[in-house]
Amino acid sequence: MAKVTTTRLKNSKPSRKTRETGALYSTLEKSDIEQLGTFADSKQAPIHRWFQYPAGFSYRAVEHTLDQFEIRPGQRVYDPFAGTGTTAVVCKGRCIESFGVEAHPFVHKIATVKVKWDYDFVELEKQAQELQFEIQYTPQHADAIEIGDVPELVRKCFSPRNLKNLIHIREEIAKTSEPYRAFFYVALTCALRQASAAATGWPYISPKSRIQERDGILAFHKQVALMLADLKKTPPDARKTAAHIILGDARATEMEQDQFDLSFTSPPYLNNYDYADRTRLETYFNGFASSWGDITEKIRSRLIMSATTQISRNRFEVDNIISDNLKTLAPALAAELQVKVNRLSKLRNEHTGKKSYDILVGQYFNDITQVLNDTYRVMKRGGNSIWIVGDSAPYGVFVPTDDYIAEIGLAAGFREAKVQQLRTRGDKWRGNTQRHHVPLSESIITLTK
Ligand SMILES: C[S@@+](CC[C@H](N)C(=O)[O-])C[C@H]1O[C@@H](n2cnc3c(N)ncnc32)[C@H](O)[C@@H]1O
Repeated sequence: MAKVTTTRLKNSKPSRKTRETGALYSTLEKSDIEQLGTFADSKQAPIHRWFQYPAGFSYRAVEHTLDQFEIRPGQRVYDPFAGTGTTAVVCKGRCIESFGVEAHPFVHKIATVKVKWDYDFVELEKQAQELQFEIQYTPQHADAIEIGDVPELVRKCFSPRNLKNLIHIREEIAKTSEPYRAFFYVALTCALRQASAAATGWPYISPKSRIQERDGILAFHKQVALMLADLKKTPPDARKTAAHIILGDARATEMEQDQFDLSFTSPPYLNNYDYADRTRLETYFNGFASSWGDITEKIRSRLIMSATTQISRNRFEVDNIISDNLKTLAPALAAELQVKVNRLSKLRNEHTGKKSYDILVGQYFNDITQVLNDTYRVMKRGGNSIWIVGDSAPYGVFVPTDDYIAEIGLAAGFREAKVQQLRTRGDKWRGNTQRHHVPLSESIITLTK
């Protein structure tokens, strides 16, 4: 079988297999490379900046990759974990057709609006003005809104006046027609954290720490103006390029086989990050969900395993957790994973939190294996599948996620796998005695079919 080749940074955890190799981003400065796995660049960039999704990566990583592999209009790009659509937005800007799959319904909606550029701009501006007029001149409607039933988390984020105004905007938006309604819905969603009186820096909402509240009406109008300005700057010839964002499951898509020249993605990391919980303010405000159970049913249960909050222990056989699929494809790796799972089961009983990291690790790779199988199926021969991913060390047990994904990719049929480290991470916890001290990093994996 082909081998994984790995390029690592100095002073980081040694790879299972180390061999120097041509690096994907060798032409970039080190400081630029370190940013590629983060959302920092995208915060400033037109369209990407509409919604600050903490799980997003840099749009520049997609640009460099398209350049590197000389992907052109007429070819097709795939992102199995589309999130808020960074890959899709970059491809569209270059008139390259793309497909993305996203399982979180609310995040899917944001991505869908970010890739719609072919509005009738005169009509969109007219509707924005009418909405502004309606909101400004019917304050009595806001006064009459009852907020007693609004979920507590949302009430804690805004003063009653501001909350009533925001709900008033939402009700006026509901009266508009598509496609404008979805555009305004996203604008209002994006304005929520800007207006909040609670410290709502992503990903956490902390209603106890108060900050200066901003007028929700103003925040909404500013957001609409910014989105309109960004849309008008999009290249006219790119506006009709198809960017398909599919609400679905990357483990089993119904897409045709052998169709993509490139895939570029970042899966959920194995770091106990609960995507469903992190968008709670937005989903509660919009009435998409109103309780933990609701979020579990509508969001959490649809996502691949990446957080212990997704786990009910009685559904898993911990001492035989690795799927038959993974055992058949990569028996040695499956056995190694089961050993880590068993170790985590023991460690779990020694920690007060008793986190189910054992199940998390086993099921994460079962799910990833399914995604790799499906991604292999839909890629063209010769096509490359690029994954940005971080490794992890639950309860101090090091899990080289990058190497494991590369190995499973080879077992799934890819003929070559390269791992290049982008940066070390997790340094901010260094002084914390409760945390493990295993050096962690973020890598980019290239799988070639
Ligand atoms: C690291 S984020 C990707 C962020 C994305 N690159 C962006 O630009 O916003 C991973 C995404 O995978 C999604 N996801 C989790 N399970 C999934 C599944 N089974 N199928 C498709 N998407 C899934 C999560 O909801 C999350 O948005």
